[in-house]
Amino acid sequence: MSNDKLIIFDTTLRDGEQSPGIALTPSEKLLIAQQLEKLKVDVIEAGFAASSPGDWEGVNLIAQNIKNSTIASLARCHPDDIEQAWEAIKAARDSRIHVFTSTSEIHMEHMLRKTKEEILKDTRESVKYAKNLCDNIEFSAQDATRTDKDFLIEVLKTAVEEGATTINVPDTVGYATPQDYLELLTQVYEQVKGRNEDVIISTHCHNDLGLAVANSLTAITAGARQIEGAINGIGERAGNTSTEEIIMAVKTRQDQFGVEIKAETTEIFETSRLVSKLTGYPVQFNKAVVGKNAFSHESGIHQHGYLRNTSTYEIMSPDSVGQEAKIILGKHSGRAGFKDALDNLNIDLDNDSFDNAFNTFKKIADRKGEIVENELRAIVGQVETNQSSTKLLSVSVNSKDEYASAKITLKVGDNEITEEATGDGMIHAAFTAVKKILKSEATLIDYRVESITKGSDATAEIVTIINDGHLMKQGRAVSTDVVQGSIESFLNALNK
Ligand code: KIV
Ligand code: ZN
Repeated sequence: MSNDKLIIFDTTLRDGEQSPGIALTPSEKLLIAQQLEKLKVDVIEAGFAASSPGDWEGVNLIAQNIKNSTIASLARCHPDDIEQAWEAIKAARDSRIHVFTSTSEIHMEHMLRKTKEEILKDTRESVKYAKNLCDNIEFSAQDATRTDKDFLIEVLKTAVEEGATTINVPDTVGYATPQDYLELLTQVYEQVKGRNEDVIISTHCHNDLGLAVANSLTAITAGARQIEGAINGIGERAGNTSTEEIIMAVKTRQDQFGVEIKAETTEIFETSRLVSKLTGYPVQFNKAVVGKNAFSHESGIHQHGYLRNTSTYEIMSPDSVGQEAKIILGKHSGRAGFKDALDNLNIDLDNDSFDNAFNTFKKIADRKGEIVENELRAIVGQVETNQSSTKLLSVSVNSKDEYASAKITLKVGDNEITEEATGDGMIHAAFTAVKKILKSEATLIDYRVESITKGSDATAEIVTIINDGHLMKQGRAVSTDVVQGSIESFLNALNK
């Protein structure tokens, strides 16, 4: 492995699965592993084989099916753990046993109740034991960033002497700052790895202070050539380094990092989606790289610049991570963004229709903030069938126990006419008032309200079918207000 290669070690299925509430079945784990293989991560930590029969089965299933990534299993410093890890992974084309113990005073005293000498002995014996089974051995010093530095170096040197090929320096509790981590990794590089080409230094950072990705990237400068992470940053407490953020940072800032990675970035979005779906952990909207808004441009100024040249507001392209380019139209969107969204849907409107559609869009966006493709199509559909000179100016409805009433004002030609009516529901009362104004005898044949989007602020498309005594006519309207939209749809039908 040349020194310019950065190994991506993904622990979504081990540390990531340790998130509260996540319990993947072996077959779900395999689905994720297959997707990680498409993403071309170098190492998949498939689980902690000795931790449960289900975990063993998952690790084993992955080892049997994945061909292009190394398969690792975690193991404590116990012969039984190491045996179980090996049994689970030995079918893999390339396997790795990942042995760990804790090295900080806090962990040794309160958790393991072991002395420094005992930890050194465990390290020596366990790495040696694992090395007899498998050539590829990773050793982790849990809580390394809170460990006495001289002791940490001594433990890591011992692991290397016994044949460990990867030395991991975890920031288990997410306590380190980039400066701390840089200094620690530099010392490990100089005193443990030195010129030994067979040893790789690895990072494993937790995100308790939101510094996991920054810390991991800093370590590249100190000579680390493996970064451990989990998709969507899941993992114990605040999670792990996000694998996808590391991949994109290294790809996007080659000028800084200068290391090569194999990852197939266009598989990132699908991997994130699958992990979110199977773990039930949602991805925050503004999450770097994979968030739903990571490539959305909302304000008119941003959209305007982006449309002229994507580089104005984008440092990487959405398709490079497998996300579709999309502009979310919102209440701050201007005419340029609206026009571009229509162009993307191959919708060409004349100037008047464009103005009408833009006004309707603004009215709806003002109420609900964000407009998606279906709503845009519905808005255009309504505008194209609604070119009449009769317009709804105001509506007020009231619903009492026995009956409902409505007061409607329409602009008919140059006149404003108001009428009131009662009915057995608000819509019935409103339609009756409209018929009074237009002196219409039309009967309502069908009336449908369909929500185009989800949630309590959903936009509805309202379809009315009337019989005007001669013909059936259909009207449509789009609105977040069902009463107003119903009247507009009814007017649309009557006006035809
Ligand atoms: O956070 C940690 O220290 C770990 C080790 C087991 C690598 O997950
Ligand atoms: Zn961890």
